[in-house]
Amino acid sequence: MNTVENIKDLRDQVKAWKMQGLTIAFVPTMGNLHDGHLALVKAAHRHADKVIVSIFVNPMQFGLSEDIDNYPRTLAQDKASLRQVDTDLLFTPTSAIIYPKGFGDNSYVEVPNISSLYCGATRPGHFRGVATVVCKLFNLVQPDVACFGSKDYQQLQVIKTMVDDLSMPVEIIPVEIIREKSGLAMSSRNGYLTPEELAIAPTLYKTLQWLSEQLRTSHEARDYAALVMQASEKLENAGLKTDYINLCHAQTLAPAMPNDKEIVILAAAYLGKARLIDNLPVSL
Ligand code: PAJ
Repeated sequence: MNTVENIKDLRDQVKAWKMQGLTIAFVPTMGNLHDGHLALVKAAHRHADKVIVSIFVNPMQFGLSEDIDNYPRTLAQDKASLRQVDTDLLFTPTSAIIYPKGFGDNSYVEVPNISSLYCGATRPGHFRGVATVVCKLFNLVQPDVACFGSKDYQQLQVIKTMVDDLSMPVEIIPVEIIREKSGLAMSSRNGYLTPEELAIAPTLYKTLQWLSEQLRTSHEARDYAALVMQASEKLENAGLKTDYINLCHAQTLAPAMPNDKEIVILAAAYLGKARLIDNLPVSL
């Protein structure tokens, strides 16, 4: 596996592959890779000839109060993992390469409406940072397809909307959530949890499953607000602090209406130093 840091080397390799008629799949990450990320690389191989992964801890998507300096950086380990899943090229730019003029005063990509809900409400500017960096990375890598995890369901919808609205020539491939045996969705942020907190954390997914079951069984008389309140109480009773729990339209993420057939339960909760997110699609 070749690793490149600068844009010229990346573009040269992409150009060489394209001249050979090869297709490219792209997996953007922030590193500290686990099996969830590696599942994206495996999926990427099924959709193109060559797979490019990027590792870039994007300062533009972190809020002022969020600790970007302590975000786990494990490059040597990440490279070993990426080799095991036959990654063709790793792109590891610095902030100066991605944002040579900084990012406060420059062009950006804003996906309205969807970006201001849920995680966007708790983390203002977060999805602008995500959309902008992903757009830049797409322009650099010029992939035919790009893989994103359903774990970050709202992020996935933001990216799909951006690609659709701006006619970007890339196909977005969603990849299933990879979970620990306990049901906890794998996340780089799980590393912040103590052993006691790790025992509590699976309650988040269990609560989503409970809520999904309620929705599917008590079909006729659904009181969404009451169900969500009960779910939130379950989280709080287990020791999690609910950030939000919402029933949403699966694509627009607008609050679910009683007639909606495809909905998704989105949730975020604080536990110790970590903010955990999870989701569960439900077909009614
Ligand atoms: P990061 O959190 O490193 O995640 C990179 C990709 O891995 C995302 O598409 C995310 O949804 C996926 N992923 C993470 N945990 C997963 C799991 N348990 N199962 C399946 N997929 C999982 O998301 C980002 O980085 C950044 O916002 C990024 C898109 C790279 C832009 O900076």
